[in-house]
Amino acid sequence: MRTPDKVSGCLILRFDFHIKRFTIKKKEKVMFTMSDKIVLTGIKPTGMPHLGNYVGALKPLVEMSKSNKTFMFIADLHALNFMRDAAALRRHTYEIAAIMVALGLDLKNAVLFRQSDIVEVSQLATMLMNVTPKGLMNRAHSYKAATDKNAAAGLDIDAGVNMGLYTYPVLMAADILLYNSDIVPVGADQKQHVEFARDIAGYFNHIYGPTFKMPVPEIGRDTGIIPGLDGRKMSKSYGNVIPLFAPAPELKKKVMRIITDSRLPGEPKDPDTLTIFQLYKHFAARDEVAAMHGQLLAGMGYGDAKKILFEKMDSVLSAPRMEYERLMNNTAELDKILDDGAARARVVAAETYKRVRRAMLG
Ligand code: ADP
Ligand code: TRP
Repeated sequence: MRTPDKVSGCLILRFDFHIKRFTIKKKEKVMFTMSDKIVLTGIKPTGMPHLGNYVGALKPLVEMSKSNKTFMFIADLHALNFMRDAAALRRHTYEIAAIMVALGLDLKNAVLFRQSDIVEVSQLATMLMNVTPKGLMNRAHSYKAATDKNAAAGLDIDAGVNMGLYTYPVLMAADILLYNSDIVPVGADQKQHVEFARDIAGYFNHIYGPTFKMPVPEIGRDTGIIPGLDGRKMSKSYGNVIPLFAPAPELKKKVMRIITDSRLPGEPKDPDTLTIFQLYKHFAARDEVAAMHGQLLAGMGYGDAKKILFEKMDSVLSAPRMEYERLMNNTAELDKILDDGAARARVVAAETYKRVRRAMLG
C-alpha cells in the first residue's frame, strides 16, 4: 500500500486555467470562465454524423471546448471490434477530425488526437484488466445486447463476440483514467461505461492507494431529440438521417422529403408537432423562429416552410462544410493537427502510466 502523501504529489494535476480572454471575431472580445475541470470524450469513426449527432453531441462539445481543458480523441481502437477495413477506418478518422475542426473546436484548449497514437492507453488497459471483475464485463449493455440476440436466435450466446467487444469497457476506462478526466460527456447509451470506469478506478485505488480521479459522466445537455425525415428520432438505425455535411443539393432533397400531413396552405399548423419547425429551431435566430411559429399558425404551406428551413440550414452549414471539404483534401494538415494533439496527450498519458506502473510493479 502506498502512503497517501507519497501519492498525493502525483494527484496534483490541476491545470492552471481560470479566466482567459479569447478573440472571437476581429474586434469582438468575449470573456469565458475557464473551469479547471478536465473534460474528455471519444468519438468512434464510423462515418459522417447526422444532424441529430450535431445538435445533440458535436455542437455542445465544441461549445464546451471554449471553457474547459478538453481531450477529444477519435476512438479508432474501439472501432476495431467491428470494422475490418483499414482504409475506411483511416478515412473515417480524418472525417471526424475534419468535422471537429470545421465546427470550430478550440484547438488551444482542446487536444484532438487519435486514440491509437497513444500506446499508453493499451498498456493501461492491460494493467486495468487485472483489477476488473469478469462479472462487470458480463453486465455491459453492449455485450448483453449481443448475447441476448444470440440467445433469441438459438445460437451459442457468445457467437461472433470477440474479446475487443467483451473488454470494450476496460479500454474505455483506460481512455478516461489516463487523462485524469473529471467530466465525460457521453450519450445516454455510454453512461454505464463511464460508471464502469469509476468502478474500475475504485477497485484500483482500493488495492494500490489513491491513484485515479473519479470521473463523472455528463449526459447530453437538454437539446431535445432531433426528429428525422420520418418524424421518429433521427438515427442511423432508422435510416432517416440528414448527414451533417451533405452537399447543398442533397440537403435540399432531404429537406423536401421530410414527412408532413396533408394540411393545405392556408390551414393552420401546429408548429410544435412539426419536424420542419423542430429542426428550424436549432438553426435559426430567436426572432426568425418566432416568425415561422406565427406564420405556421397562420397557415404557411409546408413547401414554403421547407424552403425557408433548407436556406437557413444551408447558410449555417455552408461555411463549415467548405472548411470540412478543404481539410479532407488536405489530409497532411489533419495529420499535423492530430500529431500535435498526440504529442500533447502523450505528456499526460506518460505521467499517469508511470504512476500506475510504480503502484503496480514497484
Ligand atoms: P445513432 O442513433 O444515429 O446511432 P448515436 O447513438 O451514435 O446515434 O449518437 C451519438 C450521439 O449523438 C449521442 O450521444 C446523442 O447524444 C446524439 N444524438 C444522436 N441522435 C440524436 C437525435 N436524434 N437528437 C439529439 N441527439 C442525438
Ligand atoms: N464508446 C464511445 C462510443 O461508442 C466512444 C468512446 C471510447 C468514449 N472511449 C471513450 C467516450 C471515452 C467517452 C470516453 O460512443
